[in-house]
Amino acid sequence: MNKRRYSVLLLLLFLLTSCMNSQNNIPESPTPKPRPVLLPPHSTPALTNTLRAQAAARGILIGTAVDATALVQDSAYAETLGREFSILTPENAMKFDALEPAPNVYNFKQADELVAFAKAHQMQVHGHNFVWYRALPDWIKQGSFTKAQLSSILHDYITTVMTHYKGQVSMWDIANEVLDDQGQFRTSIWYTTLGPDFLDQAFRWAREADPHVQLFYNDYGTERPGVKADALYALVKGMLARGVPIDGVGFQMHVGLGDPPTKQAVIANFQRFADLGIKVQISEMDVMVQGSSLPLQQKLQAQAHLYQDMLSACLSVSACEAFTMWGFTDRYTWIPAATGHPDQPLIFDQNFQQKPAYTALFQTLTSNP
Ligand code: XIL
Repeated sequence: MNKRRYSVLLLLLFLLTSCMNSQNNIPESPTPKPRPVLLPPHSTPALTNTLRAQAAARGILIGTAVDATALVQDSAYAETLGREFSILTPENAMKFDALEPAPNVYNFKQADELVAFAKAHQMQVHGHNFVWYRALPDWIKQGSFTKAQLSSILHDYITTVMTHYKGQVSMWDIANEVLDDQGQFRTSIWYTTLGPDFLDQAFRWAREADPHVQLFYNDYGTERPGVKADALYALVKGMLARGVPIDGVGFQMHVGLGDPPTKQAVIANFQRFADLGIKVQISEMDVMVQGSSLPLQQKLQAQAHLYQDMLSACLSVSACEAFTMWGFTDRYTWIPAATGHPDQPLIFDQNFQQKPAYTALFQTLTSNP
């Protein structure tokens, strides 16, 4: 082949490939679904001026609950999440009503998207949750089951979900808010139909389904010693004595500016649980400012102090390996819907700007132990 023909052939080849590439760039549908900005996998941990990097230097993980819809629709949300946090807890996507909306019909789509995001950003996934009195699908709420039937439904559910996420979830809330404010078993379909054994059984089934994942009990109002915390302590001690595979307790820490727990009370409480040989963690912290008559700036400072105290309580107890908040931006907090009042309980404002609470956490992580 002479030189001229060869160049013409090359030119044709070039034109053909560029035409194919440009065709590939045409979106498949006229309105493509907005996708989060995915950071290159190794860029996140390399940053040092982030909460997750500073937390890693102190030997703990820093986490947040994640709203699956916001993650897909809001790139600033996705970018901040991947940059700052090392644990992702699905806010609602791994609850019973989301995962098994009809008998034996599983829907893992949203939860899988969260798990994929966590993997791409080297975050651990905190599964939340199996046994709760809320977020139940209608077929459970409205069904009338014998003890044997409900027991088999729960067993199948735990086994199916844990098997699906084997190797991808590092800790699971097996039981959530099982106690009422007096420390008694709360009325729920689980307790009423299965009796108190449901708790031990759920942990045992979970361990059978995946022996490598950490199994947690999670509750609110148990952060400082008191009726409910004391009842939880006795419950966990009993479970351990019976050989129930429980690895840790999550303390939710939904608190406000009025009568918050003190650092010393939280340390003392965490330490007695840790002395049982299990892990502890702060699992859902947020700090409501509603109801306080202080000017806004002072409210935000008081809020920052509370975040700082609770993080520093966690840092003081070696069994406390994770500090997780129930969201990170005031734009998507659950508090206004839950309380009926506006609020700003998190560490980034509505526009993803760092609040005094962010700075307080950062400084706590970087200050001398
Ligand atoms: C909340 C979610 O944030 C809301 O979006 C949902 O409507 C209700 O549940 N304790 C828990 C969480 O363990 O699962 C709850 O999450 C908040 C309180």
